Amino acid sequence: MLDSVAVNPGAPRPLPPRVPGLPWAGNLPRLIWQRFDFLEAARRRYGDIFLLGLGPSQGIALCHPRHAQHVLVDRVSNYPKGGPFWDSVRTLMGNGLPVSQGEYWMRQRRMLQPAFHRERLVALAGKMLETIDESLTALWEKPARTGEPFNVADAFPHMTMNVLVRTMFGAGLAPAEAERASHAMAYIIDFMLRGMVAQSLPTWLPLPGRARYREAIRTVDAILFQMLERGDQDATLEDSLLYLLRHSTDAETGERMTAKQLRDEVVALFVAGYETSTVAMAWAFHFLTQQPELTERLRAEVDAALGARAPSFADLPRLPFARGVLQEALRLYPPAYWLPRLAVEDDELDGYRIPAGTLIGVLSYLIHRRPDFWESPERFDPDRFSPERSAGRHKHAWLPFGTGQRQCIGKEFALMEGQFILARVAQRFRATAIPGRVAQVHFGTTLSARSGVWVRLAAR
Ligand code: HEM
Repeated sequence: MLDSVAVNPGAPRPLPPRVPGLPWAGNLPRLIWQRFDFLEAARRRYGDIFLLGLGPSQGIALCHPRHAQHVLVDRVSNYPKGGPFWDSVRTLMGNGLPVSQGEYWMRQRRMLQPAFHRERLVALAGKMLETIDESLTALWEKPARTGEPFNVADAFPHMTMNVLVRTMFGAGLAPAEAERASHAMAYIIDFMLRGMVAQSLPTWLPLPGRARYREAIRTVDAILFQMLERGDQDATLEDSLLYLLRHSTDAETGERMTAKQLRDEVVALFVAGYETSTVAMAWAFHFLTQQPELTERLRAEVDAALGARAPSFADLPRLPFARGVLQEALRLYPPAYWLPRLAVEDDELDGYRIPAGTLIGVLSYLIHRRPDFWESPERFDPDRFSPERSAGRHKHAWLPFGTGQRQCIGKEFALMEGQFILARVAQRFRATAIPGRVAQVHFGTTLSARSGVWVRLAAR
């Protein structure tokens, strides 16, 4: 495959190769129906960068780690979070951190960053573990007693939502509230991808699902509002993220956030941190139970490092296999499987012209499965993340948390949570796959497990 096209210096650059498609719809139908099978076939045929017809607009697919470096790091100001996907997300998050831009984004990121520093994670570990344990007791113990089939993909929302709410916002959610919030969130997140289409249609047009989407946002808003109120009344929450957000002032103006700004940041953290962690955990369990020898290795690691005691932050480096399991699940099924951007000015990449106004997709899913960076890429192999085997690998060959200045603020939080969950489950339960019930991937707004991840549990 060529790294760049050979052209005379100064001659106009060609566009990337265009994947043939239908007259009006372009490549949209195949993209919708075949998703990454289509994109992978296009990559093999046309190379690492190619142009797609997307109805009235066009997009450029980028499939190499060096493209991530270019778009997300070197020329980041030319590739903001524009285009229909982010417009759709804005209908939910307003101007929250994942979608804000420029100076405003920078100020908000500076304000939120301290909540994710190492010392904060150390301080949060106890509360995180307590919440994980409560969720295991509430939802996992009964199926472990009865041996009935158990869908872990259905159980993780309860756990990850409560972990997020307790650690970030202080106040917990009652089970019925958590369930209502998680149903509403599931609908919102599912609708977001379809919402891309809605962006190009007038708001008065009755689009299937739009009314329900708005209703779901109202539900989440109402629940978060109550949570904010409860957090206000609780004097023990002085070091919670919520407290930090409420009381931090803008370095230049000395002003505090308005209620609307606060709402947007809270919703944004909730959305960005909840669904991603939930699906990541479901996939980690899928792969572990599909290969029982890996479950055994995890158990041996946890037994040797911890015995029966609960892990602490200091134990995390002693659980490298657990971390590898998460990293590998995130490689094969990155919840944010593409990173959309919009080119502001004309640019050049690999000798091709990137015209201003083009939608850009950095395709993490394909980057994570490139045989030139990952040996036997389809195989689930947590040892690839050992220091020896990671040495020399391109630093953007693995980017489930994005990269550059917009990299996920919750990366270490999510990995710590994942390691704790794997350790606690290994200490308390044995999970085995149910023959014939293998999870199927669903390319929605995130990469979820269609029809669930079913296992049989037994107490240890
Ligand atoms: C396995 C779990 C997670 C995954 C895979 C994940 C993935 C990502 C990715 C790919 C981005 C960058 C998107 C882009 O550049 O277009 C991102 C941004 C972000 N994530 Fe996460 N995330 C996870 C967990 C979390 C958690 C737990 C939180 C918060 C508690 C969080 C909060 C955020 C925020 C606020 C941003 C926007 C950062 C900015 O633009 O400055 N994420 N995440």
